[in-house]
Amino acid sequence: MTSQVRGVQLARLLGQWHALPGRRRSPDYAALAAAVRGLLADGRLPLGVRLPAERELAEALRISRTTVTAAYRQLRETGHLASRRGAGSWTMLPGTHRVASTGLWTPLDDRDMLDLGVAALGAPPELVPVARAAVEDLPRYLSGAGYHPTGIIELREAVARTYTARGLPTSAEQIMVTNGIQHALDLVLRLALVPGGNVLVESPTYPNALAALAARRARITTHGLAVDGIGWDADLLLGSVRQTRPKLAYLIPEFHNPTGHLMAAELRERLVATAHAAGTDLVVDESFVDLPLDDTPLPPPMAVFDRHSRVISIGGMSKPFWGGLRIGWVRASAPQVQRLAAARVGVDMASPVLDQLVAVHLLAQAPAIVAARRAQLVTQRDALLAALAERLPDWRFDVPRGGVTLWVELDGPISSALARAAEEVGVRLAPGPRFGLDGTLERFLRLPFTLPAADLVEAVGRLAAIRYDLDRGAGRPRWREPAVIA
Ligand SMILES: Cc1ncc(COP(=O)(O)O)c(C=O)c1O
Repeated sequence: MTSQVRGVQLARLLGQWHALPGRRRSPDYAALAAAVRGLLADGRLPLGVRLPAERELAEALRISRTTVTAAYRQLRETGHLASRRGAGSWTMLPGTHRVASTGLWTPLDDRDMLDLGVAALGAPPELVPVARAAVEDLPRYLSGAGYHPTGIIELREAVARTYTARGLPTSAEQIMVTNGIQHALDLVLRLALVPGGNVLVESPTYPNALAALAARRARITTHGLAVDGIGWDADLLLGSVRQTRPKLAYLIPEFHNPTGHLMAAELRERLVATAHAAGTDLVVDESFVDLPLDDTPLPPPMAVFDRHSRVISIGGMSKPFWGGLRIGWVRASAPQVQRLAAARVGVDMASPVLDQLVAVHLLAQAPAIVAARRAQLVTQRDALLAALAERLPDWRFDVPRGGVTLWVELDGPISSALARAAEEVGVRLAPGPRFGLDGTLERFLRLPFTLPAADLVEAVGRLAAIRYDLDRGAGRPRWREPAVIA
């Protein structure tokens, strides 16, 4: 193995580093560091290799030495370089990377990547003042041990009020606070599903729900959603429930992820009745309920039609507020909440008190914060729609009336190939098959509109460029898995 790379060799490997994707947004030193990271990621620059001295590389690249010094410093900070005074700098594997099964490094945090794999907004500006206010509330809790398996009462009451306001009378005893909606789903599955139990899900559906079901070794059957129009075919869905009599059905009736569909009130009512007759519990994921993007009136929550504690609703702060808060909840009957709390004690005991206080403050300001989020999403959605219409007019989609994602039907079964090629031009995608079970959905792609409008337009431009390269068979992109889909 080469133990040292000379300045001219590295300059050759770096090639057109000035012109890498995302270049316009970063200074020279950052672009150089990103280019070195890229070489490491795809294996062209091996681990444990000594890089040229700063002066030598500066000469080879015909740039200033301070640029190289700053690039090396950034590489040290990101864990890609280890330096010893007088001895030089060696390439290394940072703790933030993992080696994929292909042997390539997969960066978990690539600064120049336009990440369309994650369907979630950054935090609202209110978060910092609200967090300060929450700290002021903390002393009220400090004399106790701080373990509240069902959540602090203030937050449970605040969440209960949101359901009541939606037409579903709810008491604090029916709410359990969790560490995000994914945690809520996992706990509910532990309670409601024996390993190997039969579960019905929509197809496409949220990939991490499939992961949670796989962890419970669920036997999954799917209900295919229509691409356009209303999504759920009532007769087919009710027929599936009657025939397969699943132990549980997991559904996303409000601005479904990834399609954006909204289930009509009439189907909700029939579904709850049919589920009860079939002995099926309904786990209803309301992640996006706060994010309608037009004036369509929202149908009542699914649990409004429930007379037999068949419906367990899960929701949380991640989509309207911020995923980094890790605050979600379950709404169920009071005895179910107690059983969930008992199960939780064996998992994580309770949610952080301070984060719950932050959530209380955010919910108190919800109308203003959520209105601003919705306006932001409308702007970003419309920018994405316009860019697609201009650059990729063959792609088809229904304009979602809520939520944060566009489910696009591509002009061929190219979704995975497109995602592989996109990674090479600095766009991370969640290809269609990630949202299904059996490797189908290659004609589909989920595009979230959670990034700023300019980034979405830039991403569509890059996708349009590689779409036509795919047809020409150029590039032969290497496979890299999207790091996180949320
Ligand atoms: C439908 C759905 N459920 C659950 C989650 C997970 O939410 P959380 O980040 O609160 O765990 C997401 C996040 O993308 C989602 O889209």
